Amino acid sequence: MSIRVRAPATSANLGPGFDCAGMALELWNELEVSEAESTLVEVEGEGVSETPRDANHLGLRAFALVADVEGKHFRFLNRIPFARGLGSSSATIALGLVAACLWEGVDLDPAELLPLAARLESHADNLAACLYGGATLSWEEEGLWHARRVADSLPLAPIAVIPEHSVETIVARAGLPGTVAHADAAFSGGRAALLGAGLASGDTDLLTAAFHDRLHEPYRSLAAPILSQLQEKPARGSVGVTLSGSGPTVIVWGRHEETSACAEELTRRFSDCRVLAMPVAAAGAGVF
Ligand code: HSE
Repeated sequence: MSIRVRAPATSANLGPGFDCAGMALELWNELEVSEAESTLVEVEGEGVSETPRDANHLGLRAFALVADVEGKHFRFLNRIPFARGLGSSSATIALGLVAACLWEGVDLDPAELLPLAARLESHADNLAACLYGGATLSWEEEGLWHARRVADSLPLAPIAVIPEHSVETIVARAGLPGTVAHADAAFSGGRAALLGAGLASGDTDLLTAAFHDRLHEPYRSLAAPILSQLQEKPARGSVGVTLSGSGPTVIVWGRHEETSACAEELTRRFSDCRVLAMPVAAAGAGVF
């Protein structure tokens, strides 16, 4: 028996939707699981040197929540840059969970997979987008994570500017303040409302107005200097810029008709970064 699954990259927060909003992107990690005499883990692509090759691998820990990892060969193909704010850990968790469900013949939908996945990651914004696809909103209630997919696609083109250096989410979260000023909370709460409405309705003006945050981006901009550079001097054809998750990747929101010109300018200006124009992925993690 052999199964193959894939899981998309994701961008979380989308500005003011901290720990809530996310979107799936057309960049996929893959996992093939087959029978073997003992447990084998192979990893190819991004993050090869940083990944354990035993049961401590995040994908195997996720698999083990549903099925036994013993006597199986796990082959991971990683395309999502590691520790750059593009949801590589969520994708790895989703791969393990979805593969285990298929292996066991258990039919779990994203709403059932999300609370399981959230046992391995403390915030579910990336996980929700990865499992559902499209754009999602997630929230925690009495210790359980819930999510809704609010859009299959968006009226703007996300272009990721991915620096060479990595940022660990745990470190980025530790740098956030314990309290914020009422004015900043009010500003971000209002922009988050615009974001939810803009995602659900596909209204470009609402989204453009929404892409501003005072809850987390200002505290993370030191580790992601391209964010303020792009806020001060926007790229041609772009309507906004958001930090992707905890960074350091930045998402430049381009008008669809100007995506190529925008990506070309970004490539010129940030020659030490990878620039990837990635459409929103309508599908979430699953077989392919
Ligand atoms: N919402 C999380 C954060 C996403 O901003 O810390 C981390 O990828």
